[in-house]
Amino acid sequence: MAKRNIVITGGAGFIGSHVVRLFVNKYPEYNIINLDKLTYAGNLANLKDIEDKPNYKFVKMDICDFEAFYELMQREKVDGIIHLAAESHVDRSIKDPFTFARTNVMGTLSLLQAAKLYWESLPEKYRGKRFYHISTDEVYGALEMTHPEGVEPPFTTAASSSEHHLAYGTEFFYETTKYNPHSPYSASKASSDHFVRAYHDTYGMPTVVTNCSNNYGPYQFPEKLIPLFINNIRHRKPLPVYGKGENVRDWLYVVDHARAIDLIFHEGKIAETYNIGGFNEWKNIDIIRVLIRTVDRLLGNPEGYSDELITYVTDRAGHDLRYAIDSSKLQKELGWEPSLQFEEGIEKTVRWYLENQPWLDNITSGQYESYYNEMYKNK
Ligand code: NAD
Ligand code: TYD
Repeated sequence: MAKRNIVITGGAGFIGSHVVRLFVNKYPEYNIINLDKLTYAGNLANLKDIEDKPNYKFVKMDICDFEAFYELMQREKVDGIIHLAAESHVDRSIKDPFTFARTNVMGTLSLLQAAKLYWESLPEKYRGKRFYHISTDEVYGALEMTHPEGVEPPFTTAASSSEHHLAYGTEFFYETTKYNPHSPYSASKASSDHFVRAYHDTYGMPTVVTNCSNNYGPYQFPEKLIPLFINNIRHRKPLPVYGKGENVRDWLYVVDHARAIDLIFHEGKIAETYNIGGFNEWKNIDIIRVLIRTVDRLLGNPEGYSDELITYVTDRAGHDLRYAIDSSKLQKELGWEPSLQFEEGIEKTVRWYLENQPWLDNITSGQYESYYNEMYKNK
């Protein structure tokens, strides 16, 4: 394997830390630079197991700092960028859209422009280079819960190349689906995706974009549904279900996303888009019931013990009804498949949070409380 100098932005966050870990362990000959501003969501404790590896380096930097990033590109002779740094929580974007535009749009543009200037200054220019932008399925908007006549959802489809799956609608997000973002978060991610593609089309930068469905697994910041609810069940706190809990999300185990990123970084076609998802749709309320059952079982509580914690609250503004990714292109063209069934992944995830209470306490004992709790307290 050739030596490479790769910057992974947002490597101290949830998905980024899994990508950094995978690359550092799998490619000892690569120089892996984790570039992260360490916002509330960045946590170097996520990378304790690899922080002393000789092929790993952490750089604290804001992706909006053009000068500093340009200087880093030159100093480290960077030939690959895997860009995950972002503001990522929809509820925060509703309260503070400017921060999302700054980091997600201007930050991405700043990285693109610095990479362009540096790579174009080299004799070989863009040869052997890659700018890989990690995005979300939320840019596509929301899908309906349509279903074939006489069939109640969830119903079985054969959308996946490898197996049938349960779906809550007949439509899916494809790579060709028109962008239609609704939240300030998804609008900012959509905008950054457009800039990345524009840098390919205008300047010939070797870019690739992927749009992934909801991730779950270890090291996710406990403002997102799954870690927040596991923690609340454990501490017998209310579980704030937005609306009726009928919204559908398509869940993928984070390590499977990291595996896809590795594959696409190395083998994905330049200027292509790949959707990443596990054909794994769940209504929020059903996931919540699985979480309650699993946590109660693992803690030795009687069945149904934590059901009373379910608390229906005011719906999220502009709450997208259903996300469902069709990842057949990635499966067929590059041979990727999710490695874990959801039941297995959830069991692993719940066990991880229960066994890593200090990791959670470290976060939740500080300034941070769930966004809902903060809002609730202020009422
Ligand atoms: P996260 O919020 O857990 O982590 C984001 C990381 O980016 C943090 O370490 C933070 O410190 C860093 N960061 C934020 N602003 C920065 C800045 N200005 N400069 C440098 N670093 C900064 O997010 P995540 O869930 O790991 O998501 C990572 C990426 O994957 C995002 O681009 C997100 O849009 C995308 N994505 C997430 C999901 C999901 O379900 N979590 C699904 C699809 C795509
Ligand atoms: P979240 O984890 O915030 O991811 P996203 O908004 O990017 O899909 O939320 C997942 C789903 O769970 C979403 O439909 C909103 C819902 N939700 C709740 O019902 N209560 C909560 O406290 C949170 C954080 C989310």
